[in-house]
Amino acid sequence: MPVVQADRLIRIGAALLRAAGASDEEAHAVALGCVNANLAGHDSHGIIAVPTYIDRIKVGHIVPGAPWTIVQESPTTTVIDGHWGFGFHVNAKAMELTIQKAKTANVAACTVFRQSHVGRLAAYPLMAMREGMIALATADSGRSPKHVAPFGGREARLGTNPISIAVPSDLEAPFYLDMATSAVAAGKINLAAARGDSIPTGWIVDSEGRQTTDPTQFKKGGALLPLGGTEGYKGSGLAAMVEVLCGLLTGLGFGVEPTGRHNDGVFMAVFNVAAFRPLKDFKKEVAEFARYLKSTPPSEDSSGVMYPGEVEYIREQQRRKSGIEIEDTTWDKLRTLAAGYKLAEQLDL
Ligand SMILES: NC(=O)c1ccc[n+]([C@@H]2O[C@H](COP(=O)([O-])OP(=O)(O)OC[C@H]3O[C@@H](n4cnc5c(N)ncnc54)[C@H](O)[C@@H]3O)[C@@H](O)[C@H]2O)c1
Repeated sequence: MPVVQADRLIRIGAALLRAAGASDEEAHAVALGCVNANLAGHDSHGIIAVPTYIDRIKVGHIVPGAPWTIVQESPTTTVIDGHWGFGFHVNAKAMELTIQKAKTANVAACTVFRQSHVGRLAAYPLMAMREGMIALATADSGRSPKHVAPFGGREARLGTNPISIAVPSDLEAPFYLDMATSAVAAGKINLAAARGDSIPTGWIVDSEGRQTTDPTQFKKGGALLPLGGTEGYKGSGLAAMVEVLCGLLTGLGFGVEPTGRHNDGVFMAVFNVAAFRPLKDFKKEVAEFARYLKSTPPSEDSSGVMYPGEVEYIREQQRRKSGIEIEDTTWDKLRTLAAGYKLAEQLDL
């Protein structure tokens, strides 16, 4: 497996996306967003996604240079139509505007529809966190194909519907949650299937609704299970609420859109900490709280407690130093694309 430095990977991703029709700004936003996911250790949302996004441009599912329009707004709310632009770009602009509104009004929220994949969801709440605000973001997969069975069901009717919340603090590693509401990401099942590994029980059911450790059953009509194991009704409930915020409140609807066009509906809300208590005090206390959690005596076989967001920061420090391992299949796809766009020499691929 090649090991590649983050900067080089961003250059490669951006050049390929530009060649596929993205503007400089769009290409950079997407490539940076993907590589930041690699750095955080979420390789399923990393550079591996660039060939998929280029395929989607080719079939017209992603529209480079798409307009970004406000459909409806008030001093605290905005409804944004992304016109099928790149989610990374469309959604970051939506968050920028929401932060600006919260700077004046102290709270602000937005919905975004008709945009492509937004990638690693934490990217957007982290923007608000850097401005001294608490932010919540939820995303569904619009009406694209579903992967998760609601609790008690055997057919996929929900997306992996992630939730991310970021909070300002004095900590070096930001305090934020960024998680799918399914037991595990779909990419992890596909990886196990490709490697011929079995998976733990509790991740998927087969098409008959039976628990299985065979990952190949996922693509044969099986479904991911919601987060929570025997208490999966809680993950299922969270996923359903995310779908209401991102599918229904955006007007995208629920169920599966027959064309399969990927459409990440997003809901985001931002809260200005200073409207509740002095930011300095809050940031200090969040850091103290994180240290309090971390000082919990470890349970058996545990290396200790981490706070949300910490593991991503540790991985990022490691990967910035040692580089990012890219699986051969992804590297081959990047090389093929570079050759097709006559960029192989320029990108040294
Ligand atoms: N755009 C989309 O449609 C979409 C859909 C699903 C998931 N995603 C993204 O996929 C990524 C992966 O999600 P996931 O749920 O598979 O990730 P995950 O299972 O690794 O969980 C991540 C969360 O758990 C925390 N965490 C992990 N290990 C921990 C530990 N030992 N102690 C304390 N906290 C710990 C992390 O800090 C993070 O907040 C996320 O970036 C998410 O936004 C995106």
